[in-house]
Amino acid sequence: MATIEQARPVDEERLMAFVFRAVEEVGATLGAALVVMGDKLGLYKALAGAGSLTAAELADRTGVAERYVREWCNAQAAGGYVDYDPASSRYSLAPEQTVALTDPNSPAYLPGFFQVAIGSVLDSPRITEAARSGAGVGWHEHVHDVFEGCERFFRPGYNAHLIPEWLPALDGVVEKLERGATAADLGCGHGASTILMAQAFPNSTFVGSDYHEGSIEIARARAAEAGVAERVRFEHAAAAAHPGKDYALVTMFDCLHDMGDPVGAAGHVHDLLAPDGTWMIVEPNAGDRIEDNLNPVGRAFYGFSTLLCTPASLSQEVGLALGAQAGEARIRDVVTAGGLTRFRRATETPFNLVFEARP
Ligand SMILES: C[S@@+](CC[C@H](N)C(=O)[O-])C[C@H]1O[C@@H](n2cnc3c(N)ncnc32)[C@H](O)[C@@H]1O
Repeated sequence: MATIEQARPVDEERLMAFVFRAVEEVGATLGAALVVMGDKLGLYKALAGAGSLTAAELADRTGVAERYVREWCNAQAAGGYVDYDPASSRYSLAPEQTVALTDPNSPAYLPGFFQVAIGSVLDSPRITEAARSGAGVGWHEHVHDVFEGCERFFRPGYNAHLIPEWLPALDGVVEKLERGATAADLGCGHGASTILMAQAFPNSTFVGSDYHEGSIEIARARAAEAGVAERVRFEHAAAAAHPGKDYALVTMFDCLHDMGDPVGAAGHVHDLLAPDGTWMIVEPNAGDRIEDNLNPVGRAFYGFSTLLCTPASLSQEVGLALGAQAGEARIRDVVTAGGLTRFRRATETPFNLVFEARP
């Protein structure tokens, strides 16, 4: 039964503080679209290393209409994404802004984060309708910015952590991959993690799979571009139908919670693994209790979870909908329900938890 409490009178100062906070949030929402615009139009790249440019010079270098560039620059300057010098009417990027906005090899690279956020927002009317009935919206049903943004968002983190930290945190896995082993990367999306592992371990072979056919086509093209196509195969398959057996390593990067039946997928991973094999599960960092996640990282992940991950899981059979902030205890339950007997947190970063599960 709902409880009725005596209402506190409105505090005008608190009300205005809340309104001004919301002004910042609206600016940030629009700013996210402007970051994607600057990324797609090459505005950040042109500013990077250019010293400082007037809006007209930036327009000239990018071939974008000057009036749009001027307005974009002013919005970016107001948001702290570019610097503005009133004396010369010139805009520039500080070194930190240059790295975060233009260097795809930096772990601080941001455009993909914004791209997947904007893609999610573009699809939000469908999520709003689905929420009325509890229907799902499949990952494959989203706009391309979701797929590409996700790849560009996750890849810098994988570049920074996967080979030097995450795989070495697993018991004996690096040695097996160095000697030569077969590994499977389930829910691999555009295959960023699969290709990175193939590049690092030339004696091993890798099979990536995803239930989204469009992502698998792109993953195949990425493997060819990276020159590893001979040792990396990509299959269009749901996790519960990934082919093969006796894998030394099975990986899942940020996708277990997107699956409708993660327990079923865990059971299949059990069957895919060699008796001494290892399942590495990378999930968004989260505590077990809601109150542990009421912070900026949790806010972003709960947002993605509402618009992407929860609807994706609900669109599939079972529809367990773990959510992107499931936390270690829930993941442990899922993994052990799938028949794996050993489970531990191997390592973590501010954004990810890395678990090791074994038969
Ligand atoms: C957040 S993306 C992560 C993609 C990739 N692992 C990465 O790190 O870039 C989640 C992925 O899970 C895939 N997915 C969702 N449900 C799946 C299922 N049941 N079987 C296989 N893949 C699934 C989606 O198609 C999507 O590519």
